[in-house]
Order: sequence, then structure tokens, then C-alpha cells
Amino acid sequence: MPPRYAQFPAFSRLLHWTMAAMILTMLCLGVAMVVSLGDYHVLVAIHRPLGIAVLILAVVRLVNRLINPPPPFPATMSQLEGRMATASELAMYGLMLVLPLIGWGMLSAARYPIVLYGSVHLPFVLPHSACSMRDCGRCTRSSRTASSRCSWLTSARFCFTR
Ligand code: HEM
Repeated sequence: MPPRYAQFPAFSRLLHWTMAAMILTMLCLGVAMVVSLGDYHVLVAIHRPLGIAVLILAVVRLVNRLINPPPPFPATMSQLEGRMATASELAMYGLMLVLPLIGWGMLSAARYPIVLYGSVHLPFVLPHSACSMRDCGRCTRSSRTASSRCSWLTSARFCFTR
């Protein structure tokens, strides 16, 4: 059984705040992409690799979470608060994995080249579909709302349980 620390280990905190900054940047980039037509291609060129970096870090974070379990909840927290905090954490992990996969899937289905940097391209992960770009856009919007709510809950829990 891995040891339980009195507070989050330094690496977990580093991952947490780095990813928080990255995901907030991704949300702002995503919104800027759909509202400003002028800089669209520049913004997408930053959005794609940053999103894939979020996906990689989410996997690192999941492995780190299994190796370094978080500290126990404070005794002052009720059972309901504990359940809500656990549920928000689970939702957060799910969204950190699903959001970048939706973006990747959206470009794959539209058969747009998924350029990471220079000649480095990602493979298509979904079959070609004419309406997937629209469907995934809708899906991203709802996940974005859910993700910002969960990030507030998780961050609040993180701050108050140190
Ligand atoms: C944490 C990861 C990600 C977040 C939080 C995120 C967030 C967003 C948001 C908020 C939008 C705007 C959606 C709208 O309101 O219509 C968006 C659009 C978009 N995202 Fe992402 N995204 C992520 C990852 C990715 C990845 C990995 C890719 C591609 C490899 C990608 C490709 C796109 C594209 C192409 C659009 C523009 C769609 C359009 O023109 O309507 N995203 N993203």
C-alpha cells in the first residue's frame, strides 16, 4: 500500500498548478479561436500541441495519483462534502483525458491535418465524418462548462485540505 502524506507531495502540486494554468489557457485559446477570425490559424497552431501536452500530463498525473495518494480529508469535513470532493476529482480526471481526445477526434473526423510541430503529425483516431466537427464542437462546449466547474471545486478542495 503506498504511503499517505500529511499534505500533497511537491510533484503533485507542481503538476496540479501547471495543468491548471495550461487548461485555463486552453479554454481562453478555444474561445478566442471561435470569436476572432483573424488569428484563427495562429491560435489553433498553439492550441493543438498545448492540448496534447495536457493529455500527456493527465496520464502522468493519473499514474502519480496512484503512486502518491492524496492526504486524508480534514476531520471537519462531513461525509457528504467528502463524497462531493471525490466525485469532483473523478470528473476532473475524466475531463482532463476526454477534452483533448475530443479535440483530436474532431480534427480526425474532419480529416484536417493534425500538425503538432513542423512535420510532426498525429494520426487520425476517428473515421471521416462530415458532421463530427459540429457535434464535437457542441461536446467541447458542454465539457468546457463542466471542466471549469470541476476545476473550481477541485482547486478549492486542494487549497482547503493543505
Ligand atoms: C485540455 C484540452 C483542450 C481544451 C480545454 C480545449 C478547449 C477548446 C474550446 C473551449 C474550444 C472552443 C469550442 C467552442 O466554443 O466552439 C476549442 C475548439 C477547438 N479545439 Fe480544443 N481544447 C482542448 C484540446 C484540443 C486538442 C488536443 C485539439 C487538437 C488536437 C483541439 C482542437 C480544437 C479545434 C480545431 C477547435 C476549433 C473548432 C472550431 O473551429 O469550431 N483542442 N477547444
